[in-house]
Amino acid sequence: MLRIGMLTSGGDCQALNAAMRGVVKCLTCSTKDLEIYGFLDGYKGLIYGNFRMLTGADFTGILTKGGTILGTSRMPFKQMRDPDENGLDKVDAMKQNYYKLQLDCLVILGGNGTHKTANLLREEGLNIITLPKTIDNDLWGTDMTFGFQSAVDIATDCIDCIHTTASSHGRVFIVEVMGHKVGWLTLNAGMAGGADIILIPEIPYKIDKVVEAIQARNKRGSRFTILAVAEGAISHEDSKLSKKEYKEKLSHYPYPSVSYELAEAISKKTGQEVRVTVPGHTQRGGAPCPYDRVFASRLGAEAGSLILKGEYGFMVGIRNREIVKVPLEDVAGKLKMVDPESSIIKEAKSLGISFGD
Ligand code: F6P
Repeated sequence: MLRIGMLTSGGDCQALNAAMRGVVKCLTCSTKDLEIYGFLDGYKGLIYGNFRMLTGADFTGILTKGGTILGTSRMPFKQMRDPDENGLDKVDAMKQNYYKLQLDCLVILGGNGTHKTANLLREEGLNIITLPKTIDNDLWGTDMTFGFQSAVDIATDCIDCIHTTASSHGRVFIVEVMGHKVGWLTLNAGMAGGADIILIPEIPYKIDKVVEAIQARNKRGSRFTILAVAEGAISHEDSKLSKKEYKEKLSHYPYPSVSYELAEAISKKTGQEVRVTVPGHTQRGGAPCPYDRVFASRLGAEAGSLILKGEYGFMVGIRNREIVKVPLEDVAGKLKMVDPESSIIKEAKSLGISFGD
């Protein structure tokens, strides 16, 4: 008998279901002796023993379904070692449930924080396989995470729609794209949508450079300018502040987000009408795009194969278009950021895109 536990943790994204389906399809092709324990709402389900017994039937028809059939929640890694409000040791509770159910392994789908906890459980002796999900594409060890391409499509659609109205009205438009720490999504959606200015956390912007880029377009006779701005875009001055000073600044920040601060500054300096559009969580919603369906299925299949071989302690990722296994200890705690010196940034700049630097 093979007993596997499964959970999805952290912010959801497209193709979580496709990835779980991939794992189960692969396993059920090889063994009929399979028990699947689906832990509900992320690590919470594992801590409090909240699970559903699942069968192959639960995974049919979900390839195209967004969200996660298991539910998810955020449980910061930092708090994992703190007892809960009733004094329960969370790590101990997860281990106890794992051993009580006699699991052979846990399949964990998640992003950065999730991987830190997954690695902690590995260090504690549990058999773990992880799959890299997040629209942010910021997991180290894999060229791509699932959810990312679907989110790029949605953010691009948004910029496409903004293009037509921006050109009709001759306005400056800011589209705020998700990503607090990294700019992969903004960079890709910005380039795909033909944004004129792209601001990402990895390249602090100078407002005068942003204004210069807008005015240069005006001079060339362009009626509008589109900025793709990451949630975590940061000005050059703010990037010089210590973490503490920046936190202090944000504690009495008068704007809903950086885009509104930028909008006010641009409008003051250029006298132009500026509008902000925030697609927000739509970027994580809906059906996975075909690329993500295939990609997540491939990852799931490899995860299933590793389980059948009894090879644990890996994240399954992709490198140079090949599915690979990456030791969990190498992945945990590392962020994959956009390198300001990378070729894609140079190419974007050579197309005339301004990064405000
Ligand atoms: O981690 C994915 C992500 O969508 C980020 O891009 C975004 O900043 C954050 O989650 C939003 O988190 P929440 O869903 O908790 O508001």
